[in-house]
Amino acid sequence: MSTDNVKVGIAGVKNHGRTMVRAIRECDLLTLVSCFDVDTDAVRQTSEEFGCAPADSFEDLLAAGIDAVVLVTPNHLHGKQIRKALAVGKHVFVEKPLASDVAEGKEIIDSLDRTKAVLQVGHNTRKRKVFRKAREIIDRGALGRIVSCHAHFSYDAGLRAAVPSWKLDPHLCPLMPLPQLGIHFVDVLQYLVSTIDEVCCFARSAVMKDEAGSDVVDSTVSVMRFDNGVTGTLHAHYVVPPTFEVTVFGTRANLVCREDSLAVISTGDFGLEEEIIPAGESPHASFISELREFAECILHDGRPEVDAATALRNVAVVEAMKKSVEGGRTVKVDEVWSTGG
Ligand SMILES: NC(=O)c1ccc[n+]([C@@H]2O[C@H](COP(=O)([O-])OP(=O)(O)OC[C@H]3O[C@@H](n4cnc5c(N)ncnc54)[C@H](O)[C@@H]3O)[C@@H](O)[C@H]2O)c1
Repeated sequence: MSTDNVKVGIAGVKNHGRTMVRAIRECDLLTLVSCFDVDTDAVRQTSEEFGCAPADSFEDLLAAGIDAVVLVTPNHLHGKQIRKALAVGKHVFVEKPLASDVAEGKEIIDSLDRTKAVLQVGHNTRKRKVFRKAREIIDRGALGRIVSCHAHFSYDAGLRAAVPSWKLDPHLCPLMPLPQLGIHFVDVLQYLVSTIDEVCCFARSAVMKDEAGSDVVDSTVSVMRFDNGVTGTLHAHYVVPPTFEVTVFGTRANLVCREDSLAVISTGDFGLEEEIIPAGESPHASFISELREFAECILHDGRPEVDAATALRNVAVVEAMKKSVEGGRTVKVDEVWSTGG
């Protein structure tokens, strides 16, 4: 293996996969060698457009002279594909979520522990400039004591495009807006505030149906308690206009994070004072920066910020939310943590 560049293959090249192909190409420490998708047209198009070798199967991709694989495949395939890649000595970058549930996540960690491979999970949202700045502001105590938080990540994909069938299947993608959107802010809140300890979730099908006309969960609202006593709420809907907002409420100031700016709102002598801090960058930058971190960890024996253990805690929170909906009750995250695996 080269000491200054990592050869990668990618599985899953449509939709978000295409974004990641571009990010790989823009990352100076990675070389895209091969691609695979079950959609052969997508493989042909990607290999022609980006000059990489088409693979006929996932196994062929792993055998294409690569050091690492980037998985941008449906969530329920992550566990199996990670284990296959680790078994033949490849480093793995996998899109969020790490696994379908805690049990599968623990199996992945067991497999990983038997190797020297790097495994990084694509929780790119915490890498966005706005949340790096938010963390700095919180760390220097500018908010005073944190009291509560509110996060909202929504998108209208369920009203617009044809949604891939796996996202409509409650067995493959339970409480769909949560693993697809909400989990980004589960990760951000655990990065900014603390570990989430307990959850209560409400879910409904407001609009979406699958091909058979059955309801699909397209709307979730959760209440959370963190291990430091902070409480919070999380909205994730698949059928409303794009919304991207995290607010952390403190005794000295409230911090409102949007896509490209932060507002620090505090009580001044003459009412509320608002300081706006620009934090603009293209969302694409976070994909390039997480891939660069992945390459650096491989080249310099490092450990990624969002490793399997960190990402598994996000999976556990979402699984606890699912259990909460099923049982109509509040669920401690430790309940799924200890039963998983
Ligand atoms: N980090 C982010 O911002 C972000 C954004 C969107 C999606 N994602 C994640 O990326 C992944 C893909 O999401 P998507 O929305 O692009 O889904 P998608 O269904 O649109 O795309 C999945 C791709 O995988 C291919 N595929 C299916 N089975 C395969 C297999 N066995 N081997 C290889 N390829 C296979 C499909 O043909 C398709 O091209 C998911 O895990 C999702 O959670 C992350």
